[in-house]
Amino acid sequence: MQIIREINALRRAIAAVRGEGGSVALVPTMGALHAGHLKLVREARRLARHVVASIFVNPMQFGPGEDLSSYPRREAEDAQMLEAEGCAILWAPSVDVMYRQGHATKIGVSGVSAGLDGDARPGHFEGVATVVVKLFNQVQPDIAVFGEKDFQQLVVIRRMTADLDLPVQIVGVPTQRDADGLALSSRNAYLTAEERRCARTLPRVLLEAAQAIREGGDIAEALARARQALAAAGFEPIDYIELRDAETLEPWTNINRPARILAAAKIGRTRLIDNIPILPAIRGS
Ligand code: PAJ
Repeated sequence: MQIIREINALRRAIAAVRGEGGSVALVPTMGALHAGHLKLVREARRLARHVVASIFVNPMQFGPGEDLSSYPRREAEDAQMLEAEGCAILWAPSVDVMYRQGHATKIGVSGVSAGLDGDARPGHFEGVATVVVKLFNQVQPDIAVFGEKDFQQLVVIRRMTADLDLPVQIVGVPTQRDADGLALSSRNAYLTAEERRCARTLPRVLLEAAQAIREGGDIAEALARARQALAAAGFEPIDYIELRDAETLEPWTNINRPARILAAAKIGRTRLIDNIPILPAIRGS
């Protein structure tokens, strides 16, 4: 696996793998890799001959007071894992390479970026959309693989890719979880042992609410119960716990369309997000 940090070297390396034939899949990450990221890499390998992973902790998507400076950075270990998974190229630019002097362009994806994390983290999805479109232009992949863990991000990227006619197929991969249900996240490393024990409540209440709604229970009641259970487990504040249309992220009104329960809440100093699907075929059956 080649580790590349400059744009010109990246272009040469991409041209070389393109010369071997077959398609290229990109897996964008911010590093501190775990089994969730590796699941994306495996899916990328299944779908494409060559896999490029990127590691870039993107300052543009962090708000003031967020964890940009403390975000875990473990590039040497990450590189070993990616190599073992059969990645051809690790693209790991510095901030100066990604955002050259005078960088002034931002991509805004309205609608799907509003509400949920868009409200809790102003400017976050502009930062994500901007860096992802740059990564697409740098790597020029046929396929790009993202996790459903960051569900609103996936919807924003799908919208942007369609709107800008980007020739990239976006693939979403279901969330990888620990044995107790907690979604794997680089930020789980911040949790104390006690917080880690409480954190499992988040996936549990989402499952219970989804089950209640699937069985035809009152939506507002199910969400209120979930909110209470999170508060009782020590989550504070609870930024949101909502049921949305899985494609548009608009409030879910049409029971024939797929829905998703999405939640974000803090435990101690750590903000966790999670979401689970509610499929229309199951409701009422
Ligand atoms: P990061 O948080 O490092 O996540 C990289 C990719 O891994 C994202 O597509 C995310 O959804 C996926 N992922 C994280 N945890 C997962 C899990 N438990 N199961 C499955 N997939 C999981 O998301 C970002 O970085 C950034 O916003 C990025 C897209 C790289 C742009 O900077």
